[in-house]
Amino acid sequence: MNTLNIALLAGDGIGPEIMNQAVKVVDAIANKHKLSIQYSTALVGATAIDKTGQPYPEETHQTCMKADAVLFGAIGHPKFDNDPNAKVRPEQGLLAMRKKLGLFANVRPVSVYASLLDRSPLKRERIEGADFVVVRELTGGIYFGQPRGRSEDGTKAFDTCVYEVYEIERIVKYAFETAMQRDKKLCMVDKANVLATSRLWRSVTDRIAEEYPEVVYSKMFVDNAAMQLIVNPTQFDVIVTGNMFGDILTDEASVLGGSLGLLPSSSVGKHTAIFEPIHGSYPQATGKNIANPMGMILSAAMLFDHLQMTAIGTEIRNAVEHCINKGVVTEDLAKPNEKTYTTTEIGDAVTQVINSSILI
Ligand SMILES: NC(=O)c1ccc[n+]([C@@H]2O[C@H](COP(=O)([O-])OP(=O)(O)OC[C@H]3O[C@@H](n4cnc5c(N)ncnc54)[C@H](O)[C@@H]3O)[C@@H](O)[C@H]2O)c1
Repeated sequence: MNTLNIALLAGDGIGPEIMNQAVKVVDAIANKHKLSIQYSTALVGATAIDKTGQPYPEETHQTCMKADAVLFGAIGHPKFDNDPNAKVRPEQGLLAMRKKLGLFANVRPVSVYASLLDRSPLKRERIEGADFVVVRELTGGIYFGQPRGRSEDGTKAFDTCVYEVYEIERIVKYAFETAMQRDKKLCMVDKANVLATSRLWRSVTDRIAEEYPEVVYSKMFVDNAAMQLIVNPTQFDVIVTGNMFGDILTDEASVLGGSLGLLPSSSVGKHTAIFEPIHGSYPQATGKNIANPMGMILSAAMLFDHLQMTAIGTEIRNAVEHCINKGVVTEDLAKPNEKTYTTTEIGDAVTQVINSSILI
C-alpha cells in the first residue's frame, strides 16, 4: 500500500497535548495493520503568529495541500481573546484554512454512550438513543461576509451575512446524501422569520428536497432548535444549517454526550479534508495533562473513514468506547470522587486496547 501522508496541525493551548494522543493511536493502528504513514507538521494559530506573523502561513497551506488528510488540534490564545484591537488573530488562520482548502461541509456526529448516560446534566430518559449528525456550512455566512469591521470613531461595528445559491445547494445536497445513508430524516435549521439569507436557504432546500422523496424533510427556527436539542434530541437524524448556527448548536449538543471534549468532526470539500475536535484550545487546561483527547482521537477515526478505511475507523471508535465503559475517562467525564485519568493515560489506554492487550 502507498504511504499515507498525514499533516499534523496541533495549534495552540491543549492542541499539542491531545494531538500527541491521536498520533499514538494512529501509530498503533498503523503498526497493527501494516500501514505506512508519514507525518508532516505545520504551524497554525497563535503559535504561527508568534513565529511567522501569520495565523495560517503559506508553508502550512502547502503542507495541507500535499497531504492525504489533515489532523487539526485547536487554535486560540487568551492574549488575542483579551485584545479587541489585535489586527491578526488565531481564528483568522482557521477561517483562512477552511476557505483556501474549500472545506464547505463540517460534519459533526453527536451520540450518547450508554455508560455515560448518567454523566450528562440532562435526564437519561430524554437523551437515551440520541444519535444525529449536524452538517454545518463552513465557508460562508456571517463568519466570512463583507463588509465587516468597526467605524473609525469606534462607535459602531458590523458583520455581514451573505449566502449565494451555489453555497446552499452544495451543502444541502451533501446533507441529503448523508441522510440517505442514515435514517432518511433531515431538518433544516434557520431563522427565516427574520433573516433574508435564511429565506434563501428555505427556498433552495425546499427545491432540493424534491430530489430526495425518501427523506422526511422538516424545517425549524434556530431558537426552537436550541430548545429541541435539549428537550427532545432523539427526534433528529441529520441537521443541516449555516455556519454560525451550526457552530453554536453543536457546542450545545455536546452536553448530551457529557463533554465537549468528546465530539469529533470532519471538514470536507474541494481540497484536503481536515479532521478536528469541535472544541477550542481550552487555555485553562494547557500543560496540565487533564484535557479529554477523545474528540481528537475520534477525529482520527473519521479520517480513516474518509480514506475508505472504515474498519479502522470503527476499530478506533470501539477502543474509545471500551475505555469509556471501563470508566477510563478524564475529569470532565468522571463522577465526583471517581478516579480520573490524565490526557496521556487516555492515549495509552486506547492504544493498549488497539494492541489488544486490554489491560487498562
Ligand atoms: N476549532 C477551534 O480551534 C476553536 C473552536 C472554538 C474556540 N476556539 C478558541 O479556543 C479558545 C478558548 O475558547 P472557549 O473557552 O470558548 O472554548 P473551548 O472549547 O476551548 O472550551 C470551552 C470549555 O469546554 C470544555 N472543554 C473544551 N475542550 C475540552 C477537552 N478537550 N476536554 C475537556 N473539556 C473541554 C472546558 O470546560 C472549557 O472550559 C478561544 O481562543 C477560542 O477562540 C477555537
